[in-house]
Amino acid sequence: MSLEDHVGDILRKARMQSKISMAEASAAAGLSEDDYSALEESGRIVKRTDLFAAAALVGVSGGRLEAIAKGWEPEPLFTECWRELRMITTTSNFSVNCYLVWDEVTREAALFDTGWDAAPIFKHIDENQLDLKHIFITHSHGDHMACLATVRERFPKVRLHSGSKNAPVDQRNRANDFIHLGSLRITNRPTPGHAEDGVTYVVGNWPEDAFHVAFVGDAIFAGSMGKDFHTSEEAKRHIREQILTLPPDTLLCTGHGPITTVKQEREHNPFFAY
Ligand SMILES: [Fe+2]
Repeated sequence: MSLEDHVGDILRKARMQSKISMAEASAAAGLSEDDYSALEESGRIVKRTDLFAAAALVGVSGGRLEAIAKGWEPEPLFTECWRELRMITTTSNFSVNCYLVWDEVTREAALFDTGWDAAPIFKHIDENQLDLKHIFITHSHGDHMACLATVRERFPKVRLHSGSKNAPVDQRNRANDFIHLGSLRITNRPTPGHAEDGVTYVVGNWPEDAFHVAFVGDAIFAGSMGKDFHTSEEAKRHIREQILTLPPDTLLCTGHGPITTVKQEREHNPFFAY
């Protein structure tokens, strides 16, 4: 799976965050405004471009940006299927990831977002003989919960969890919630920024393995971050404080693009690695 954002996307997001004009960014990169606009659009560097100067101006790491231009991707940790975790990617106008996790003994399952289409979710549930107990919504953007009604229709007793203040009170996350899924333990960390109700869910206590899996929604991507609909400083602060402080081997299951780890993002994400 390729990265969610190419070099042009990253430069544009960072330029919008830092409120730098196209004229200023193109001058720093040594390009005409038309050529800089084409770079943001396509991510292709066709002319000699001072990536480091453009990156410095908009506030991302030039070295990490250059690495992405040369093809950096997170080391693939597993494909879509690893132990009791499934990555399910569905596509409508664009692709979105949701994830299914279960306890190997009790077969109790939790879904993190729903994506566009319930059919592959039901297929995994049926194939593995699971009982869907919980749905955790990372944020209430349409692509992440498009088939929520279909899933709830089949599992009417499923418990919904959300960071939205508009959700019914029994569905709203509380700061110290510990949700048990067999022996797995699920906690929530508010990560607003990309969305007002953004939440990162952390699954820990995997049998035999001392690591965590975090479902981050669109807060952070491999090599990039979600576009901020609120303030970029708030978005970045929550990523730094709530996600990048998790143990280095924590898997980051993102809403778009490939799975990565805390360690890889701390070292390679142009927004955070310096
Ligand atoms: Fe989103």
